[in-house]
Amino acid sequence: MAKQAPGKVDMEKMVSLCKRRGFIFQSSEIYGGLASCWDYGPLGVELKRNIKEAWWRAVVQRRDDMVGLDASILMHPQTWVASGHVEGFADPLSECKACHLRWRPDDIKDGKCPACSGELTEPRLFNLMFKTSVGVVEEEAAELYLRPETAQGIFVNFDNVLTATRNRLPFGIAQIGKAFRNEMTPGNFIFRTREFEMMEIEYFVRPGTDEEWLQYWTEERLNWYTGLGVKRENLRLRQHGPDELAHYARKCYDIEYLFPMGWSELEGIANRGDFDLMQHASSSGKKLTYFDEESGEHLIPYVIEPSAGVDRSALAFLVDSYEEEPDKEGLRVVLHLNPTLAPIKVAVLPLSRNESLLPLAKDIYAQLRQRWMAQYDDAQSIGRRYRRQDEIGTVLCVTIDFQSLEDQAVTIRERDSMRQIRVPIEELKRTLEAKLGGEPFDVLPPGGTKWLGFTDS
Ligand code: GAP
Repeated sequence: MAKQAPGKVDMEKMVSLCKRRGFIFQSSEIYGGLASCWDYGPLGVELKRNIKEAWWRAVVQRRDDMVGLDASILMHPQTWVASGHVEGFADPLSECKACHLRWRPDDIKDGKCPACSGELTEPRLFNLMFKTSVGVVEEEAAELYLRPETAQGIFVNFDNVLTATRNRLPFGIAQIGKAFRNEMTPGNFIFRTREFEMMEIEYFVRPGTDEEWLQYWTEERLNWYTGLGVKRENLRLRQHGPDELAHYARKCYDIEYLFPMGWSELEGIANRGDFDLMQHASSSGKKLTYFDEESGEHLIPYVIEPSAGVDRSALAFLVDSYEEEPDKEGLRVVLHLNPTLAPIKVAVLPLSRNESLLPLAKDIYAQLRQRWMAQYDDAQSIGRRYRRQDEIGTVLCVTIDFQSLEDQAVTIRERDSMRQIRVPIEELKRTLEAKLGGEPFDVLPPGGTKWLGFTDS
């Protein structure tokens, strides 16, 4: 069977599927849309929630060296002076004197505006942080920034967390939250946007062990993506050259993914050294040190920072799982999403709208919904309904037919292989739990049988 190679997935197709099926919509579409801002629809919000929960389970819940934090988006403006963002978080841009569009040097070919061939100004630095003002009287309002990374919320709380938890080195603080950047060249759907969500870890280590921990986290993070089904051949590591390191970084690896537009950054893992704690200590006058009982000394830990984007991860998971398979009806479009990430785990499908099937089907749906995100669909042929579920990545479909009324058994159909088994209703929940947890589909529960009944078309 010819399968479309990942990396070759067409971005237009992905955008259209996401809109049609309710994953992602253009922001403020009824007003003509707001460029590079996106809204997550009923399925997108589930996917995003599942990504964030999987990350939190992996880096906080299942580790004894990590804790969580949820800092505010608005922070004291001095934070961004100390962090170097006021000074250094800027792109050099030339403005067109005719159409006023701004361009990065590498977008300009012949010294003229790429849009209208107008004359350009000399490049000037434009800071990427969004400003806002806080206060009721405009003249007295304080000017603040919307955070361009969540990391600083962790650094300024370093001492609070240390005192509250009494954690010993090495330990980390994790945070998920929105960040904002006035990107000059946003684009590629949800890949680069002006408002996005980050999943960041600041992992504090003894100086001298930082290289080892950088390698550890790089490996750990790669494994997180492959553990959730991303194909290893679509991921690669790239070390930053000296000219591309961020102002705070000593060393940095990007985990790159083969997106539709080519290899691009999915996550960065940086060695920030003691840059941030030093800067905030000197800027605030507060001690941000750690008392090392082993040496009896106060030290400033080094920081390893795995920093991932929720939206970029969502795009990678969607693209990587997308497949078009030729079938009798033309094309089966499937999202082979890992069960952990799939927005809908199970769909309940009565074979027809015949009234005698409804009470049982509705009852099963009501029960399953207590445990999983589930859908009920009774419109059109069973084959069509399987296809609709495949296209949104629903892992399992439960079909209720006339025989179910007699033998109290239903069929379960698996998305990836399209195989079916028939199981007693009393074993249904346990069986779904086992299959969603990774049990091979052909392992049958007590009273279960293989089933060839409903073909897909
Ligand atoms: N604290 C480190 C930091 O901010 P970064 O490489 O600028 O590092 C980390 O950002 C991750 O955040 C990126 O790998 C990407 O996944 C995501 N990200 C950054 N800018 C983004 C944008 N404009 N739109 C969507 N995601 C973005």
